[in-house]
Amino acid sequence: MAVRVILCTNRRMGTAPSCGARGSREVIAALKAMGVEVEAGPCLGLCARGPNAKILPGGTVLHEATAASVAAHLDGSKATD
Ligand code: FES
Repeated sequence: MAVRVILCTNRRMGTAPSCGARGSREVIAALKAMGVEVEAGPCLGLCARGPNAKILPGGTVLHEATAASVAAHLDGSKATD
């Protein structure tokens, strides 16, 4: 089954923390530049810990995600397959 990486890109109003305000679109761009298939997604309800990335299948959520942390997670997943 293909792995899907979904980055929350929600931006909340005002000063409320959100993945969009914390650079999730930049993480998506960096992952795409690395050749990782990634898509934008909705709020996961964990806004203060963003950017949040959900990995499917399995549903693992990576908090404060960076391109490097997502790539490392994907590499680790491949190593244990
Ligand atoms: S804004 Fe990303 S989890 Fe809510």
